Amino acid sequence: MCGIVGVTGVEQALPCLLHGLQKLEYRGYDSAGVYLMDNAGNDAYIREKGRVAKLAEKAKANGFIGTSGIAHTRWATHGNVTIENAHPQKSADDRFYLVHNGVIENYQELKAEYLPGVHFVSETDTEVAVQLVDKFATEDGLSNVEAFRKMISLLGDNSAYGFLLIDTKEPGTLFAAKKKSPLLVGVSDHGNVVTSDAAAMIDVTKEFIELRDGDIAIIKPGSVAVYDANEEPVDREHFTLEIDPEDTDKGAYPYYMLKEIDEQAVVARNIAAHYFDEEGQLQGIGCAITDKMKEADRLYIVAAGTSYHAGLVGKRYFEQWAQIPTEVHIASEFAYDQPMLSAKPFFIFLSQSGETADSREVLDNVKKQGFPALTLANVMNSTLTREADFALPVLAGPEIAVASTKAYTAQVLVQAILASALGNPGFDLKAELAKVAVEISAITDEKETFKKIAETALKDQKSAFYIGRGLDAAVALEAALKLKEISYVQTEGFAAGELKHGTISLIEDGTPVFALLTQKKTAGLLRGEVAQVAARGANTVVIASKSLTKDGDAFVLPEVEELLMPILAVIPAQLIAYYATLDRHLDVDRPRNLAKSVTVQ
Ligand code: F6R
Repeated sequence: MCGIVGVTGVEQALPCLLHGLQKLEYRGYDSAGVYLMDNAGNDAYIREKGRVAKLAEKAKANGFIGTSGIAHTRWATHGNVTIENAHPQKSADDRFYLVHNGVIENYQELKAEYLPGVHFVSETDTEVAVQLVDKFATEDGLSNVEAFRKMISLLGDNSAYGFLLIDTKEPGTLFAAKKKSPLLVGVSDHGNVVTSDAAAMIDVTKEFIELRDGDIAIIKPGSVAVYDANEEPVDREHFTLEIDPEDTDKGAYPYYMLKEIDEQAVVARNIAAHYFDEEGQLQGIGCAITDKMKEADRLYIVAAGTSYHAGLVGKRYFEQWAQIPTEVHIASEFAYDQPMLSAKPFFIFLSQSGETADSREVLDNVKKQGFPALTLANVMNSTLTREADFALPVLAGPEIAVASTKAYTAQVLVQAILASALGNPGFDLKAELAKVAVEISAITDEKETFKKIAETALKDQKSAFYIGRGLDAAVALEAALKLKEISYVQTEGFAAGELKHGTISLIEDGTPVFALLTQKKTAGLLRGEVAQVAARGANTVVIASKSLTKDGDAFVLPEVEELLMPILAVIPAQLIAYYATLDRHLDVDRPRNLAKSVTVQ
């Protein structure tokens, strides 16, 4: 959470930083700020509550452009959403400016021990960090990098940080450091950059250097020097980011979420093209992965939120096709309450961002126990892909809207492909994926239907239900999350058979109950549950696959292999959530209190 960007040696620092911040806004949007300098020592320090657009207005009115600077978009952890708590934070004598992504667990202790009597203007842990650097440099006479390193050495073991520091006495130099929070250095002939996410700076460069935990980097206009935790100079790997800047633009769409929902057909085709050759043979997975998985007596899928829901679907593929017992776990629970493991476990981490702190904690733990791990992530070169033994891309392309849509679909698809590499689905998966892609488009073409459903069934409603059985119950959880996280309609996703054991008492006249019905074995039972809630006044909206549909159903899903139906069944739910949110005049892409990449535990 929180986005960091810095530039040095560019002709115009302000537009580069604002553009980068705009692209990083998905990481938090409580406040934003920028500190700019030029080589003559002129500077500007501007912060604003709320969106980057508000900061941009204020900065443009200020008029200073600069040639280097640091900027930040905040997801509040310590301290309320105020201008005082916005980053950059600065030292009391205005010498150092610092932006930070992460949490300093012992900042109160450090403040009491090292900074008694110092006046603080914010409630942030970051202000403590920058005041410490200033104390060590200005009072104790350390060089700026020594002071930076000393401050970092005092942070508690559980602290996480991506830091970017400017010393006003050394114009044009940026000092970066990272632990557990992502930070990359981008290099080019027309200036160097630092960023939390490479995609934010592709307009400046596509060449990036990955920093590792414990690294400190000194970035100047023509040079980058990286030192590891032992203060030794190191050459970190460079990589070229292979995305088109247009992939991160909305184009003609009003919101990224709608664009990303529509992209799912292309994503399905891209995944099939990547993982199957022309003859339909699997490629790109590698025996090292499949051999290790086949040795396992149990798979453990670990993930959070939407990715966890994708894991619930994937479990079925691994069990049914690969015949490997599979458990799916919520990362934040598994991290501190590890269940009894089998004799030969194999871990699969599912993550869009590859940076989720809860999942990363589990990966750290299982690595320490010596268990093999594979990450399926949308962002390759991310922490979870780097730190697992194996990694496979889910190939959804940049997902910018905070509510995940195409990454879910991609995660389900890649799990299906991986399971088919371990066993036999009993049908031609490649051919079926081509069909899935066609049918995704058929559903996304029906936007008007979903708009109407959202506007009628959810009008003025404060709560709703999604119900299903089997795989539909897994999709119901994801469908409910989509609706509640962006429209704020409190929605429960439920295994339909459980309703009668308590929850049915919540059904009142007009309560919207969406039923997902794609699984033959339980279709009759689900129809019964729909009738039970309807008898108690619920407004039922049935979304059923073609062979299971009945008169009065709200939408008929085209049919593909039953186990792949979750990929189609989720799309109406995504679109209903989108239109219900539009209808409430809320910001679809930026729901309150959330951030796309959750890098705090
Ligand atoms: C909801 C959503 C979140 C993420 C969760 C895990 O729409 O996007 O629930 O799925 O925060 O994030 P990743 O997949 O990046 O590990």
